[in-house]
Amino acid sequence: MSEQKKILKALAGETQDVPPIWMMRQAGRYLPEYRATRAQAGDFLSLCYNPELAAEVTLQPIRRYGFDAAILFADILLIPQALGADLWFVTGEGPRLSTITTQGDFDKLGPVSDIHETLNPIYETVKILSRELPQETTLIGFAGAPWTVATYMIAGRGTPDQGPAHALRQENTALFEALLDRITAATIEYLSAQIEVGAEVVKIFDSWAGSLKGEAFRKYALEPCRVITAALKDRHPGIPVIGFPREAGEAYVGFAKETGIDCLALDNSVAPDWAAANLQVDGCVQGNLASRHMVTGGQELVDETRKIVKAFSKGPHIFNLGHGITPDADPDNVQRMIDTVREG
Ligand code: CP3
Repeated sequence: MSEQKKILKALAGETQDVPPIWMMRQAGRYLPEYRATRAQAGDFLSLCYNPELAAEVTLQPIRRYGFDAAILFADILLIPQALGADLWFVTGEGPRLSTITTQGDFDKLGPVSDIHETLNPIYETVKILSRELPQETTLIGFAGAPWTVATYMIAGRGTPDQGPAHALRQENTALFEALLDRITAATIEYLSAQIEVGAEVVKIFDSWAGSLKGEAFRKYALEPCRVITAALKDRHPGIPVIGFPREAGEAYVGFAKETGIDCLALDNSVAPDWAAANLQVDGCVQGNLASRHMVTGGQELVDETRKIVKAFSKGPHIFNLGHGITPDADPDNVQRMIDTVREG
């Protein structure tokens, strides 16, 4: 490679005049072309498991906006399904899974060695993408963090406070930890397979990390991220890892150093100036514009975007939202954000 890609430069610790940019959920329902391909595929899971169409929706935001990274189109809940849980999506409500609350439920899960049988189409998507993406675009693979995935497996759905998972953690710690270990082992194999077929970076999404506090955060958010990162770097020396312990608050401090990740993704509750002083000192940060600006737009979108770019301008930074873009976003606001970042 003659000129290194902007995302990889940031992950290697380089400060750039214009930060690279991509967006969580950039392939999604706010785009008319996504809605058209999704209708062609049928339901959401059929789209995930159709390599040609999954690659197509991954490429759509790259064609439209020229983002610096493409993120593989899939879902964090494919791992439970590959381990044998039932999974389906209820329109307008979200995911549903068979629940895991007893040893009997856990014993029905399959071994880690079987996951590839289900996940092979995802690896096919990665292969298509590594052929078809523009040279300057970085391909990001991903998985959910064990805690976040476990919250869905235990409750059988999304929950506002992750109550069922916290209950199992306290009432049957051995079973809870066995489940986390199974997900951790599966995640290492899944991400490793993505890297083998062309993912250049991987991101670990811990969307519900913020509901773990103190020692529980260390044991169930920080430690699994450290274990996964170490295993991946052992097998694939130099592979950059982005960690996203969403809403970790003060527990963001030291997280990158202790886990060995190369980049810390920030949600929008984190103040950019504070993050520059306390988090960016340890390496690259990613974030963290509030997703609502993609709905509301206007001068505030421009001002907030500039504020974030400026706050992080003295160190390695990847511009992104603080969480996924929502279906009610206006595609023109996305263009305005990109123009603001790139015009400086
Ligand atoms: O970012 C991307 O563009 C890559 C693809 C991606 C999806 N989900 C596609 C998706 C990624 C990285 C995810 C991660 C994911 N999935 C997370 C972690 C990140 C986060 O947002 O906190 C979680 C918790 C899930 C689980 C999940 N998937 C839920 C709760 C839902 C339903 C909510 C909703 O938005 O409808 C999904 C569905 C989902 N995953 C959609 C997309 C584009 C919408 C499905 C559709 O087209 O109907």
